[in-house]
Amino acid sequence: MTEPVLKVENLSKKYGDTLVWDQVNAQVMPGQVISIIGPSGAGKSTFLRCLNMLETPTSGKIFYHDQEVTQMKDKELQSLREHVGMVFQNFNLFANMSVSDNICLALKKVKGLDEAAAKDKALALLKQVGLADKADSYPSSLSGGQQQRVAIARSLAMDPEVILFDEPTSALDPEMVGDILKIMQELAEQGMTMVVVTHEMSFAKNVSDEIWFMADQQILEKGSPASFFQKPQTERAQDFLDKVLNL
Ligand SMILES: Nc1ncnc2c1ncn2[C@@H]1O[C@H](COP(=O)(O)OP(=O)(O)OP(=O)(O)O)[C@@H](O)[C@H]1O
Ligand SMILES: [Mg+2]
Repeated sequence: MTEPVLKVENLSKKYGDTLVWDQVNAQVMPGQVISIIGPSGAGKSTFLRCLNMLETPTSGKIFYHDQEVTQMKDKELQSLREHVGMVFQNFNLFANMSVSDNICLALKKVKGLDEAAAKDKALALLKQVGLADKADSYPSSLSGGQQQRVAIARSLAMDPEVILFDEPTSALDPEMVGDILKIMQELAEQGMTMVVVTHEMSFAKNVSDEIWFMADQQILEKGSPASFFQKPQTERAQDFLDKVLNL
């Protein structure tokens, strides 16, 4: 039987007295692409950040395969984050390093590659995202879309099993969005397991295997894109879709 890559059990998160979401249960199977959608403030980013413990849940458990993530200490968390990569809305590149060095850093530090091997791998990854000619540039000289492609290449450098994406296109000019979505679609087609918080309904509908609709302090609906977009089960989701699809 196939086991989930990630699983959460009765997960709750509070900031002070504010409950973000309560008693969430969910799992991600190998090769699945999950889109998390829902209104602003529903706790989508918080949920994603909990999955690799950039935020600490208040109660409940998270598992990566059979390892309990919620029990892990610093060293294990570092290793977890190699397997469970993350791509952020604002790219989070190191501004004082070239594109190539942004990718090489972890290859040397974490993967133990020497300079030459790290450079080779960085270049191959930059080719994959269409940026081989930018290896020596600095992030500030790249467009937002190009910076996000570097961030994806950097995440891929760890050979992650899962990548978490938090609104990877929402800080981009509209003409850059398609490039990033295309790279994400290619990754999905190559079998990468992905959990994507997104406002891009076409991506959610056409690329993901499952939609999680987060609202009212829970994952209110889980379902196939076809059933969710044709006939959501709750009025809350219907309202949300009416708003976002009629923009
Ligand atoms: N570090 C924090 N300290 C206190 N409250 C926080 C913190 N981070 C988020 N929150 C609150 O938790 C709730 C969920 O925030 P979160 O950013 O996860 O929502 P979201 O669904 O990602 O929203 P958006 O679609 O706008 O990105 C919000 O009410 C937010 O104000
Ligand atoms: Mg968010």
